[in-house]
Amino acid sequence: MNAPHLQIYPTAQAAGIALAAELRALVARQPDVVIGFPTGGTPRQLYAELARLAREDKVDWSQVRGFNLDEYWPLASEHPASFRSFMLHNLIEPAGFDADLLRIPSGEVATEEIDAHIAAYQASIREAGGIYLQLLGIGLNGHIGFNEPGSPATSRARLVELAEVTRNRARAQFGEDEVPSHGITLGIADILDAERVTVMAFGAEKAQAVCAALEGAIDSSCPASLLRRHPNVTWMLDTEAAQELGMFN
Ligand code: PGA
Repeated sequence: MNAPHLQIYPTAQAAGIALAAELRALVARQPDVVIGFPTGGTPRQLYAELARLAREDKVDWSQVRGFNLDEYWPLASEHPASFRSFMLHNLIEPAGFDADLLRIPSGEVATEEIDAHIAAYQASIREAGGIYLQLLGIGLNGHIGFNEPGSPATSRARLVELAEVTRNRARAQFGEDEVPSHGITLGIADILDAERVTVMAFGAEKAQAVCAALEGAIDSSCPASLLRRHPNVTWMLDTEAAQELGMFN
C-alpha cells in the first residue's frame, strides 16, 4: 500500500493558491504538460487562481493539453450546465487555455456512436502520452469522476448511470431541465494510469467521504479509496473536510 500525501489548508482558497503555484512551476518546466481536469464546485478556487495568474502575472497556459474526466449524457454541449460550458466559462476563457487542446467527452453523441466516441477519447489520451497529473474532486458518496459506488478498480471509460445523490446535487444547475440520467466518464483504471493524482476536497459535507477514502476499506463501495493503490496521490483538504480523519480525533 502507498501512503498518500496529505496537505491541509485553512480554506479552499488557500489550497487553490498552493495548487495553482504548483501548476505554474509544472508548466514552466513543460508547457504542453497533459492534465486531467475535473469540474464542479471543488476546483473553482483553483481555476480562479489560474485565471488571476494569467491576468496579473502573464502566466501562459495556452499550450497545456487537457482531458476532462466526465460529461453528462445526453446533453447539448451549449447547455449552461454542461461540463463543456463550465470549462469555457471557468477556465478556458478567463485563464487563456486553448479550447482545442482541452478535450471533453461529448454529451451529444448518439447512442450508437458512444462506443466509438469513447474509444477515440481514450486513443487521444494515449497519443498525448497519457495524463501526467490527474486533478480530482470527490463526491459525497466517494465517487471520482462519475465512477459511482460499485465501480470496479478495473473500470475504463464508459457510459454510466448517475447515482441519485449525484443527480440531486446537480439539480440546482439544471433549473427547469431534468438532470441527465447518465454520464460519460473516465474509469477508475484510467484515473490510476495517470502519473500523479491530486484530489481536492473542501467543506464538512465531504468529511465522511474523505475519511472513508483514506481510512476505510479499499474497495468499490467508496471508489476514491481505490486511489490508495496508486503510488503518487496528494490529497489537498481544508480543515473541515479533514475533520473526521483519525489523526484529528
Ligand atoms: P463538487 O463535486 O466539486 O461539485 O462537490 C465533486 C464530485 O462530485 O466529484
